[in-house]
Amino acid sequence: MIDDVRAAADAAVERLAAVATLAEARALETELLGKRGPFAEFKTRLGALATVEEKKAAGQALNEATQAVQSAVQARAQELQRAERAVQLEAERIDLTEVLSKPGRGHAHIVTQAWQRLEDVFVGLGFQVAEGPEVETDWYNFEALNMPPDHPARSMHDTFYVDHGNPGSTVLRTHTSPVQIRVMQHIAPPIYMIMPGKVFRNETTDATHLAVFHQIEGLVIDRGITLAHLAGTIEAFTKAFFGDGFSSRLRPSYFPFTEPSAEFDIRTPKGDWLELGGCGMVHPNVLRAGGLDPEEWSGFAFGFGIDRMAKERHAVGDVREMYTNDIRFIEQF
Ligand code: PHE
Repeated sequence: MIDDVRAAADAAVERLAAVATLAEARALETELLGKRGPFAEFKTRLGALATVEEKKAAGQALNEATQAVQSAVQARAQELQRAERAVQLEAERIDLTEVLSKPGRGHAHIVTQAWQRLEDVFVGLGFQVAEGPEVETDWYNFEALNMPPDHPARSMHDTFYVDHGNPGSTVLRTHTSPVQIRVMQHIAPPIYMIMPGKVFRNETTDATHLAVFHQIEGLVIDRGITLAHLAGTIEAFTKAFFGDGFSSRLRPSYFPFTEPSAEFDIRTPKGDWLELGGCGMVHPNVLRAGGLDPEEWSGFAFGFGIDRMAKERHAVGDVREMYTNDIRFIEQF
């Protein structure tokens, strides 16, 4: 019987080696070690052996054989489980290196970058950010800004009219200054606000002019605001945005909505002057249009082109390049 037991164990181990799946291994385990398996049968045969010695020897051989088969089942099951898991992992594998080999994800447009940096710098100086509509009424775009219907300064703004309401009553805003009025109407002073956005001029585009471009407007309204606050703010902004080597100056100019008015220039470390935008003390008529008493409040405003800033910062030769969406151009920034 001992030989039979050992032979059965060897046969069992051989069959286990041949199974290909975990399920097959489990099925074979039941077949071999279960109640109707060969080893259960050997156990019943033990009782029929003649001597105690024989029973003891055969019983020991049977135990050893059963244990050998059990551990063979264990080992084979583990092996198969590992193999099946490896197949599954391979099937579910995601090749992350693929992402690296593809072109980059892209980034914000240079005008968006300039816009965001301007906001950051002004927010750092204590300003808040507001936005107004791109389609405006004639009143907000001109009249409230001290440009009544036949004011000559209107001719400086080549205006796109929108076919809405009374003819000439609705425009694509020609500057961000109308947002000054909207802010004054909605927010009680003190006001320290910047207003970036898209503006429109009905002109032929060239290397330095676009029909659709961006401006950032600044408005400060408080008690006792003077031209010195305006000059100091422009200077602080210049240093914060461009760097310590830069400085600014105001040059007398004219805008209907500010009095006095100035243009402001930035001096580069090399000594070149760069024209940036317009500014001035908010005209009393403008304060009144915004619902404020000029006897109580005073303030300053400024406005300049964002696209211009991006152009100068990156030494772009032609502003139109920034809107052709040529990836070879855009990728550089
Ligand atoms: N709105 C003016 C322009 O578009 C700029 C400006 C803004 C001037 C605020 C003075 C004060 O040219």
